[in-house]
Amino acid sequence: MSEIALENLGKSFGDFTALADMNLTIANGEFMALLGPSGCGKSTTMNMIAGMLRPSSGTIKFNGLDVVDVPMAKRGVGFVFQNYAIFTHMSVRENLAYGLRAQGVRAGEMTKRVQAFAELLQLEPMLDRPAAGLSVNILQRLAIGRSAILEPAIFLLDEPLSNVDAAFRAVMRSELKSLQGQFGQTMVYVTHDQLEAMTMADRIAVMDHGKLLQVGTPLEIYNNPADTFVARFIGAPGMNILNGRLTQQADTVAVDLPGLGSVALPPALQAAAARLTTPDVLVGFRPEQINAAKAGLTMHVGFVERIGARTIVHMEQGAASAKAVLLSEVETPKARKDWTFAVPDDAIRLLDPVTGQALVGRPN
Ligand SMILES: Nc1ncnc2c1ncn2[C@@H]1O[C@H](COP(=O)(O)OP(=O)(O)OP(=O)(O)O)[C@@H](O)[C@H]1O
Ligand SMILES: [Mg+2]
Repeated sequence: MSEIALENLGKSFGDFTALADMNLTIANGEFMALLGPSGCGKSTTMNMIAGMLRPSSGTIKFNGLDVVDVPMAKRGVGFVFQNYAIFTHMSVRENLAYGLRAQGVRAGEMTKRVQAFAELLQLEPMLDRPAAGLSVNILQRLAIGRSAILEPAIFLLDEPLSNVDAAFRAVMRSELKSLQGQFGQTMVYVTHDQLEAMTMADRIAVMDHGKLLQVGTPLEIYNNPADTFVARFIGAPGMNILNGRLTQQADTVAVDLPGLGSVALPPALQAAAARLTTPDVLVGFRPEQINAAKAGLTMHVGFVERIGARTIVHMEQGAASAKAVLLSEVETPKARKDWTFAVPDDAIRLLDPVTGQALVGRPN
């Protein structure tokens, strides 16, 4: 079993910096998701962990030992890509057995392990069928099985579910999670899909433009995003972020949201607000945390989007826009009318309008 430490890791292609100064320790047996939009440097990071790409700066350590000069085949990593690498002329059984045979595993042992993994991944019914002609879903499951059967101490998966259909993706999310639970490998999982990261990972590393922005458990990142990018990227829809101005009201500080109304600040945020050098501030709150109220903030309702049990309310007021997510069974606001809602004290987040950084509650 293995701990992975990335220390000041960087990668440039000519003048272009694909990854800058990444510091991240992935614990033995941890499921870590690397999450971020296309081009943020996720695959670059993975390929360096795997040994397919040499870092431009910094180091990578497995269990405290520098592996930068260790070739891929000697690192003990299993790797599954978005585009499954399957030998289509071989049967499912032969594909599963391929790596074991290369390792010189005895025939009896090999048969046992192929059988066990075929059962685990529900590939048993097609064990003797040629891989050519199997569906994309099955091929991707086979690609995962072919790597997992070698029981690598480190298992790297780069967007393994992006080519499979939505229903199968949901099934595989729980299967991959239980596979990892069973074998306890250190798992690094690259995805641009925040739902995948939120549902599977022990911790998530959020990246953008070659930089690591925040590392934390899914709940830490959801509750206390480090900056405006993470706040908007996590959640579906993401956090509402509106321009505000701090105002002194009697002996407490409130935030005035121009044209919408004002919100009182809870004590924990009073001190943080006092440290700002200008009255301008960004106010963040999650769409699912607001509720209809007699008094609070008022916005104009545009589109009311009903998605079964939930309703997404799209609102605007001047240049500001925000969303609310409500249970459809409660009375939802009407389109083209004003709607007044309250933001609970503990749902309010403040962010610096210049740097975009959260003012308090940064977990790392
Ligand atoms: N060999 C290369 N030469 C030049 N630029 C590269 C090379 N490999 C990657 N890049 C650039 O580095 C940046 C990061 O690429 P990377 O593949 O790591 O992104 P990613 O986060 O995996 O994105 P995606 O979600 O699209 O797979 C991109 O802008 C990409 O164009
Ligand atoms: Mg990629």
